[in-house]
Amino acid sequence: MANTRVISPEELERQQPFMQQVRRFYEERRPDVSPLACVRTYGCQQNVSDSEHMKGQLAQMGFGFTENPEEADFILFNTCAVREHAEDRVFGNVGALKALKRRRPEVLIAVCGCMVQQEHIAKKFYQSYPFVGLLFGTHVQHRLPELLVKSLVERRRVVEIPSCDGVIAEGIPTHRDGTFKAFLPIMYGCNNFCTYCIVPHVRGRERSRDPECILAEARELVRQGYKEITLLGQNVNSYGKGEAHGVNFPELLRRLNAIPGEFLIRFMTSHPKDATPELFDTIAQCEKVSRHFHLPFQSGSNRVLKEMNRGYTREQYLELIRYARKTVPGIAFTSDVIVGFPGEQREDFEQTLSLIREVGFVSLFTFIFSPREGTPAAKMPDPISAEEKTAWFREMTALQETLSAERLQALVGTEQKALLESDAGEYLEARLPENSIVRVQGDPARIGESVTVRITSARSFILTGEII
Ligand code: SAM
Ligand code: SF4
Ligand code: F3S
Repeated sequence: MANTRVISPEELERQQPFMQQVRRFYEERRPDVSPLACVRTYGCQQNVSDSEHMKGQLAQMGFGFTENPEEADFILFNTCAVREHAEDRVFGNVGALKALKRRRPEVLIAVCGCMVQQEHIAKKFYQSYPFVGLLFGTHVQHRLPELLVKSLVERRRVVEIPSCDGVIAEGIPTHRDGTFKAFLPIMYGCNNFCTYCIVPHVRGRERSRDPECILAEARELVRQGYKEITLLGQNVNSYGKGEAHGVNFPELLRRLNAIPGEFLIRFMTSHPKDATPELFDTIAQCEKVSRHFHLPFQSGSNRVLKEMNRGYTREQYLELIRYARKTVPGIAFTSDVIVGFPGEQREDFEQTLSLIREVGFVSLFTFIFSPREGTPAAKMPDPISAEEKTAWFREMTALQETLSAERLQALVGTEQKALLESDAGEYLEARLPENSIVRVQGDPARIGESVTVRITSARSFILTGEII
């Protein structure tokens, strides 16, 4: 394991007295009322999972939770740095708290996560947002109680952003937002250094959790009645690389699949260069593993893929899809794609369109390239205008919409397993294994149940069905 550090139980134990101090701090102020925390999470599922851990710690310190910053004692923004737009939203939303802090100076406002891990952004928060009392990076989240003591009890403005290769902290309590769907991180960080991407710079090196810890957590989730477990990591299929335990991602899936109970195993995100025949053979053998596969391709042009440092070609990607479809009947793909990477030409973009047509994705997450300070792509010549990139982007989303509509139409008349996920008032929403949502009539008390649904119509991207 590179230079990453497993946080020892003793080190975590050191947080206990800090937790007591925070609890006492609020009890002395308002003996009969629990303090409230408002935790806002931006970005990917990894961030959602991190927030669930920080909420677990906050709950242990006596906090309740609110969505409304106006009634919160502690406001925490867990931020994302992946695109400029994501950062701008955070700057805007944090900025909007200035007036609240003036009205209620006792509120503690904190910003953490991937944005803060970048030096220039941390500096900007420190200098231009003086009402933010606590700034901390991605590698010290397990020390939240200690940081709160410094801020609240010692009344200091705290900035804690060590640069390191990353840590693994086991045994942090988790306050999960869902009652039947759970996120389960299996690895952290990334070693791939795609030339456009900030993630390896803010999340540190790739490191995998111990398989026994993952299995124990999964067993506990199943015991608690969770019906869907999503394994998380920036690159889940390189799980276990370089670790002494010798358990790779397919083996981890096999062990999770062997846990008794009725539940679905999802995972994201996978990298094409680490997607092996063994992985698809394993999915075919494991009845609890979802037949939905999120496999970002980013570009259909070999020239651009090389510039992106993705480590595979268009042909290799298509060969993977062919092998997967042959091995796992009914497997459905979704993907991420970037338009307007520096130097991308119309011919490159057309290669992307043709790959989209050739594969037939269920859906696509589409992004316009956003230069990230400190990444190689941010320095590459980028002659294509923003207007042209936007026009390409629209062309691509229109193509995907047509393809999605055709796919949805083909589902009409079929019977599908689905998980009843939410109550939208006039109907319930159920998720198909391939990730599409279908509207059904049913008793909201059944939310969290797996059902079989007959698809009755597909109109304007909305599937409707009936529970059989
Ligand atoms: N680890 C995953 C992978 O390799 O695909 C996901 C990484 S990132 C959290 C999610 C998606 O954001 C990427 O797949 C990519 O399409 C997009 N993305 C990352 N950096 C970007 C950038 N600088 N500009 C535009 N999109 C970007
Ligand atoms: Fe970013 Fe590439 Fe790592 Fe995904 S694999 S997190 S896109 S560097
Ligand atoms: Fe964003 Fe950090 Fe995830 S940059 S996408 S929150 S790893």
